[in-house]
Amino acid sequence: MRRKALAAVLAATTFFGLAACGGGGGDTTSGSAKIEGRGPITLVQGKDTSGFVQGVLDKWNKQHPDEKARLIELPEDADSQREKMLQNAQTKSDAYDVLVTDVVWTSEFAANRVIIPLPEKEFQLDKMLKPVVDTTKYQGKLYAAPSSSDGGLLYYRTDLMKAAGISDPPQTWQELIDDCKKIQATPQGKGVNCYAGQFEKYEGLTVNASEVINGAGGVVTDDSGKPDVNTPEAAKGLDFLVNGFKQGYIPKEAITYKEEEGRRAFQGGKLIFHRQWPYQYNLANGDEGTKVKGKFAVAPLPGLDGPGASSLGGHNLAISTYSKNKASALDFIKFYTSEQNQKTNLELASQAPTFADLYDDASLQEKYPYLTTLRDSINGAVPRPKVVQYGDATTAIQDAAYAALTGDKSTTDALKDLQSQLESITSGQGQ
Ligand code: GLC
Repeated sequence: MRRKALAAVLAATTFFGLAACGGGGGDTTSGSAKIEGRGPITLVQGKDTSGFVQGVLDKWNKQHPDEKARLIELPEDADSQREKMLQNAQTKSDAYDVLVTDVVWTSEFAANRVIIPLPEKEFQLDKMLKPVVDTTKYQGKLYAAPSSSDGGLLYYRTDLMKAAGISDPPQTWQELIDDCKKIQATPQGKGVNCYAGQFEKYEGLTVNASEVINGAGGVVTDDSGKPDVNTPEAAKGLDFLVNGFKQGYIPKEAITYKEEEGRRAFQGGKLIFHRQWPYQYNLANGDEGTKVKGKFAVAPLPGLDGPGASSLGGHNLAISTYSKNKASALDFIKFYTSEQNQKTNLELASQAPTFADLYDDASLQEKYPYLTTLRDSINGAVPRPKVVQYGDATTAIQDAAYAALTGDKSTTDALKDLQSQLESITSGQGQ
């Protein structure tokens, strides 16, 4: 309830007003904003599950004793992180300096002046995967530096597949359902649930609902940004999840799953197939809290008639409009997002890099046999709506999908309502 009320306040607030850029000697100019001011800074993001972030901070702090960076950890889910960052900007607080922003927030944060433009020449954007770079700009200007990408993958239990005599991972939803039946009929697979993704009502549901809609040839918004979700294709896609809950190939408890709940189920050996991001790979293959080490592999997401398409995920680094130490923040962002650090992030946390050539690195490919699958997932990924009122758009998608998944609305009614809501949200918007 509390979160709903806050979301309503934030959604109703359009412009926060421009920050006064004051103090310090001029350092870097980007667009109209001066990037100046040096001193301690904070890095604001979700949980540091791998310890990678603290490692980078330690390195930076050693080299920059007067500009030390401190980690502020926000709640685990994307929606709460977004709310905290918007709230911070609304109160014009200087508590946050560097924001780790979800790729879908750039337009909203830029238009509302939560973040400032960055000097493009300071970043090696031409060496990065193109879909990632597209998430960093608003009205042609760079607002955030790519830090890690994300593409949805199908994790599957190789041991259970083998025991059931299945050699290849499923490419279609029907194959996935059939494989589960075969596996559940074996002694090893008895009682193991078939499939889960992220179905709690939050950003992860926007991702999962969009993926199944895309996987059946539908779209949420078309290439020009126009909503077009009230279609038979979109209905067929959403029905894969709706029927999953009805017919039991998705366990009932998965309606409460965000990334971490699903990861615990997969690592606990309770799922045959799991739609998840790359970060799960190292953790599920680790030495602690996992029963599936060495017993799983990763494939492209399945779809209706063949491989599906992922929603494009990932995170960028941006400077808060209200930071007092923007020059330090910019140097820190360059340091943090360097190719070397992204390589370490892949090695330590199996996070997807944004630098294209790391995907061709032989030793990385050996450690992560799915690296090419991951790059394809990112390059073929479908962006979520790129709109200034992203908070409203994602809430509409979450509400519709959740109503269909829980049986509160029929799939067609949910999509019809979503279409008209998205139409009113996107009418008259710049991208
Ligand atoms: C991951 C993705 C992000 C997405 C979120 C949804 O963190 O990188 O883009 O919004 O999951 O839960």
